[in-house]
Amino acid sequence: MGANLEITKKIQNYINDFGLKLHSVQQDIINYNNTLGDIKRMQVDPSQCHFLHLIIKISNIKNVLEIGTFTGLSALSILLALPDDGKLIALDKNEETNKVALDFFKKAKQDHKIKTIIKPALESLNELKNTKFDMVFIDADKLNYKEYYERSLDRVNKGGLIIIDNVLWHGEVAEVDNLDKYTVNIREFNSYVSKDKRVEQIIVPLGDGMTICRVL
Ligand SMILES: C[S@@+](CC[C@H](N)C(=O)[O-])C[C@H]1O[C@@H](n2cnc3c(N)ncnc32)[C@H](O)[C@@H]1O
Repeated sequence: MGANLEITKKIQNYINDFGLKLHSVQQDIINYNNTLGDIKRMQVDPSQCHFLHLIIKISNIKNVLEIGTFTGLSALSILLALPDDGKLIALDKNEETNKVALDFFKKAKQDHKIKTIIKPALESLNELKNTKFDMVFIDADKLNYKEYYERSLDRVNKGGLIIIDNVLWHGEVAEVDNLDKYTVNIREFNSYVSKDKRVEQIIVPLGDGMTICRVL
């Protein structure tokens, strides 16, 4: 059996160097986020951009829902992978970051494929109750993850994907003595998904950890 690697920052950089190359506007978003200070940690890692890209292509995904857009890095990665008649509906409650994201989508000439909805995601999800997606990417407020997951299950076609970010929570989920409210919440969420017979799933240690669920 192969030994599992501990993915250090150095190895992550190596992986990024040898992976797909970022689109210039993806790099613009990263540069912009770098000017924001600590809040830049909200964005997905470049390795996750490449993963989303490939999984969308491999699975011939056309209709995607994103919950949590921020300044648009994951959304642009999804848009760039979608075919020209693909569609992304992106939910976020923050008008200011949404405006920034929309400018980046326009700059990358991807704005014809996206609709953004600015309001609390649970409200948007209620309004989308009759819309079906091939894939949902969940990356908003962590305490609502279980709700987002349940509602996503109702909105994803069989064989479709639900991808959830930050499931390793900086590695803290594995520290059993850590009883911080956010860590416990993600730990309970991971346990819930792992027992869920409606999906088959794996946690992939890219970025802050992503669970990939295939809906049965
Ligand atoms: C981790 S960031 C998303 C990062 C983004 N996926 C990226 O790659 O840059 C989380 C986002 O969720 C949004 N958010 C938090 N709570 C929300 C809620 N209840 N409804 C909608 N959006 C919410 C925040 O405004 C923030 O932009």
